[in-house]
This record gives sequence, structure tokens and C-alpha cells, in this order.
Amino acid sequence: MIEIKNLRKRYDDGTVALKGINLKINEKVATVIGRNGAGKTTMMRILSTQLLPTSGTAKIKGYDVVKEPERIRRIAVSIPQEAGPLGFLTPMEHLLMYLAARKVPVLEARQDAAKALREIELWDARNTPADMLSGGMKRKIFVAMALASNAEVVFLDEPTTGLDPLSRLEVWSAIKLLDSEMVITTHYMEEAQELSKEVVMIEGGKCVSHGNVASMLKKFNGLVRAETNRPGAKTRYRVGSMGIDYIKKGEALDYIKEGYAIKQITLDDLFVMKGVELES
Ligand SMILES: Nc1ncnc2c1ncn2[C@@H]1O[C@H](COP(=O)(O)OP(=O)(O)OP(=O)(O)O)[C@@H](O)[C@H]1O
Ligand SMILES: [Mg+2]
Repeated sequence: MIEIKNLRKRYDDGTVALKGINLKINEKVATVIGRNGAGKTTMMRILSTQLLPTSGTAKIKGYDVVKEPERIRRIAVSIPQEAGPLGFLTPMEHLLMYLAARKVPVLEARQDAAKALREIELWDARNTPADMLSGGMKRKIFVAMALASNAEVVFLDEPTTGLDPLSRLEVWSAIKLLDSEMVITTHYMEEAQELSKEVVMIEGGKCVSHGNVASMLKKFNGLVRAETNRPGAKTRYRVGSMGIDYIKKGEALDYIKEGYAIKQITLDDLFVMKGVELES
């Protein structure tokens, strides 16, 4: 689906945001995880032809992002990280405007918009100005746009950042309605686990890990995380004031007696193992 070779991006001010990414994304839905400034948005903007790479190539379904951007724009839609609705426009108006911009004939646009709004459960709010909707519903307008566009490929840059846990669940179920191939960026490991089988981890403009969630977590088989805030605790890993060790499940009781908290392994632990600070 997506093939990236030695992709680099150096911004005009000299910042090197991508330092040679090599990647082949195979699954229908893939997530890109990484901390602030890792290069996620830069990569998404290049893939969705909004930004030119400095060097290297990227192909979406065989189309080159530099040589054939119009072909990609025809099959792909991108929901940017900072996307917010226009407060005075309703969800229905957003969808109709969006589909008009994609040159969908009016009658077809009306049908597609209505279908998407119903599926995503924004139908009752279709004529309410966006200003009066909750954060989760506002975000869902953009997922509805992607849904109504029937695009083959959808890029979603941090679709749930800043949402409360319940709104996040709502947006997740909206995203799951999409039948498109998708690349989703997120800070939330649980989101990556929930929405995709394939995860790409980027850090400092490089791909530091890539694979399916289960295989990435394989090295943690039979282990749990023991964490403590006790100052001076001698743990193998440290994230801020928290000390972390990975221990066998059978040892958990001993650790609990010492005041450690025991947690199930998640993708967060890959960051810990790589010595990268956790997002909180
Ligand atoms: N237009 C720009 N000009 C110069 N530097 C930029 C520009 N956009 C981003 N950068 C820099 O490029 C690096 C990668 O930024 P990018 O936005 O791709 O990261 P990100 O992983 O999306 O981060 P976040 O999780 O905060 O959204 C950062 O160092 C950032 O400051
Ligand atoms: Mg970003």
C-alpha cells in the first residue's frame, strides 16, 4: 500500500524533521506513534502531498507523491492535526462543502453526506452549528468527511488528541466505520492497539520500530511492569520520577510487598525499553 524509501525532510530553517525513513506499510490500517516532534505530521503531510520531501521517495498504491500528486489527491483524503470546524457551519454544511470541493455532483453529495452522518451518529446534530457541539462531535465531523468521501486511503493526524476518554471511544467507533486504507498518528499506545494491527514507531525523524502489535510486544511475554515512585529505588529503567522494572508474573507478589505497582504490558513499554520518556 505505502512504500517509503530513504525519506528526508529538511525545513527552510534547517530543522531536519525526517532523517531517512524506510518503510513498507502492508496492513489496511496502520498507526504511527511517536512523541512530540518525532516527525509524524511531517511524514503525513508528505504522504498526503501537502509537503515536498527534501529527498527520497514515497508511493501510495504505486503513485509517487512527488511525480503524481494529483492521482493521490483523487484517491486519498487527509484530516490534519489542527483541523477544527467552522463554528457557524453545521455538520451537514461541512460535509456538503467538502464534497463540493472534491467535485462530487450535488445530488450524490447530499446522499453521501446523509449516509455518513447517519452512520457516524451525527444525524440528530446535522443542522446544529459546530460551535454548539462537544469536542468529540466536532472531531467526528472530520471523520464523517472522510467517510462521505469514500476515499480509498485516509490519513488521520492525531484524531483524538485532547478528547476525554468517552469522546475518544466515540471517535474510535467512527473511525472503525471507515472501510478505507488508513494511516493514523497518535500519542496513545492504546489507540494504536485498538485501531490497528501494524504499528510504526518514529523517534527523532527515524523509524525505530515497526511491526504488528503482537510481535512488537513478544519480548514482554510472561512479564509484567513493576513501577515505583520511591526515591532511590534501584530499577533498571527510569522515566521522570518513576522507576520501572520488567519482572516475571510469578515475582509480582514480592514486588507488591515492596510497594511496587504492577501493570500489564502495553506499547508504552516499548518506549520505556528504548529509553524514551513516556507521554503522560
Ligand atoms: N514548518 C516547519 N518549519 C520548521 N520546522 C518544523 C516545521 N514543522 C515542523 N517542524 C519541526 O520538525 C520536527 C517534527 O515536527 P512534526 O510536526 O512532524 O512532529 P510530530 O511528530 O507531528 O509532533 P506532535 O506530536 O507534536 O504533533 C519538529 O522538530 C518541529 O519543530
Ligand atoms: Mg504532529
